[in-house]
Amino acid sequence: MKRSIALILLTTMLLALTATAPRGASKEPVRARHGVAASVNEIASRVGVEVMQRGGNAIDAAVAVGLALAVTWPSAGNIGGGGFMMIRRADGATEIIDYRERAPLAASRDMYLDGKGDVVKNASTVGYKAVGVPGTVAGLALALSRHGKLKWADVIEPARALAAEGFTLNHQTARGIQGSKDLLSRFPESNRIFLRSGKPFEEGDRIVQPELAQTLARLKEKGPREFYEGETARLIVDDMKANGGLVTARDLKEYEPAIRVPLKGTYRGYEIVTMPPPSSGGAALIEMLNVLEHYDLSRMGWNSSAELHLLVETMRRAFADRAEFMGDADFVKVPVSGLISKKYADRLAQTIAPDHATPSESVRAGKPTGYESTETTHFTLIDDEGNVVSNTYTLNNSFGSGVTAQGTGVLLNNEMDDFTSKPGVPNGYGLLQGEANAIAPRKRPLSAMTPTIVLKDGKFLFAIGSPGGPTIINTVLQIIVNIIDFGMNIQQAIDSPRIHHQWMPDSVRWEPLGVNSDTRAALVKMGHTVSDKPGYIGDAHGVMVEPKTGIRLGASDPRLGGAAIGY
Ligand code: GLY
Repeated sequence: MKRSIALILLTTMLLALTATAPRGASKEPVRARHGVAASVNEIASRVGVEVMQRGGNAIDAAVAVGLALAVTWPSAGNIGGGGFMMIRRADGATEIIDYRERAPLAASRDMYLDGKGDVVKNASTVGYKAVGVPGTVAGLALALSRHGKLKWADVIEPARALAAEGFTLNHQTARGIQGSKDLLSRFPESNRIFLRSGKPFEEGDRIVQPELAQTLARLKEKGPREFYEGETARLIVDDMKANGGLVTARDLKEYEPAIRVPLKGTYRGYEIVTMPPPSSGGAALIEMLNVLEHYDLSRMGWNSSAELHLLVETMRRAFADRAEFMGDADFVKVPVSGLISKKYADRLAQTIAPDHATPSESVRAGKPTGYESTETTHFTLIDDEGNVVSNTYTLNNSFGSGVTAQGTGVLLNNEMDDFTSKPGVPNGYGLLQGEANAIAPRKRPLSAMTPTIVLKDGKFLFAIGSPGGPTIINTVLQIIVNIIDFGMNIQQAIDSPRIHHQWMPDSVRWEPLGVNSDTRAALVKMGHTVSDKPGYIGDAHGVMVEPKTGIRLGASDPRLGGAAIGY
């Protein structure tokens, strides 16, 4: 009797504590008065907070985090890759720095096909030929010069020091290195640095990266152009020449990031500010939100078979459109305005049956009108003034091409695999891609990276993004739905299990303990194919401003052990 009263009291107390919003057990977001940095790696998040505490703004801090992750999260943090940085200044002005890699000048449409026209296995994913011209250093430097307060030398110093003095590997970073052993062992420089020539690092080991420290020291002293025209460029190009890579001195010298205007949409009265081409992410996200607006998801219940069915049907259609229409809008026409129009969503919603799946075989891209334009990492920051950065960048696959350019300590991307090697043949993510994303010199490969900001009544509410190849788009989608439809706080919205469908292969992916067997059976009964085994999806990091108090809330994904740190 006493025990049951105690239980009731405890339950009532917990309910009272959490009464503001219906949510399951999840830790509270990090609360901070001034600023927050949320990333996959605690050391890097701390670098971001320290930069803000020293008087830097969110952009200064984001650049420092990006450079620090190149040291502490080598599987995806990088200076040898590329990405997208969305910046929303405190005055509301928003722009995107597009520092996506570009195809080298010597690249060509069929460069990964053999004499018979078949895709050569691993040609676009492993080794020197898979490398696109890196954009990270130029992109971070451009962000800093346009919006930062601190000097380049100040924001690069924490990364240099981490590379020179070393840091202790946590479980996740060590596991990442061990998981890529086969790839890294194929390239002598990567084998030596990350695998200690046969003695892979373990959790708790200290890793020092002297060549990377020297590269960062040169960049610190000579400025970001050093990467593209100085000793670092020379080392990269020499290594490329010696190993059949395509990136030349001219490719590096002529690399330029681009400034993009964000795509905008709405969802149930919230404004969605997101990533335009060369990412497919923003257009697909808005297209899916427009379709979901036709349904009362909260009445169906979170993770009910009815809600999951609608998510899958919506994802299926948006990914069919992605395969058909999406590419670098500087090179091909992408019907963005048609894809994100509410009218187009009305038509798509009419094709969705409430009680049974549409096989992907019978789903083809729609007819939008109005032509115009697994491993990655995301970090999000907000500062005291209210400047926000939502940044996703990548080497593409974990540790990219596997190549560390001789003498630089710089891991190089394998972003060329994000192009269409051959229409109709799946890439490394199992994605079917189309002619719009064919390889061409200087073109940017199609991305799924989706740094996104959500506003309410014109005011910043939250910012989010994730790695995960195509799963990025669906991760961001579900976090937005979790917050807007299901009233979750940003931490729980990130923590909650996700699903993924990408049209082809026609299979619903789900997370461990994420969809119970009853619900899976209900989905199968509706005609869905559900993958046999679960696996984790995405790794999101976000910030939010609590509307009533202005308190900054930070949330980091538990999936890879990240950290949100506030001050
Ligand atoms: N490399 C993954 C993406 O850009 O989507």
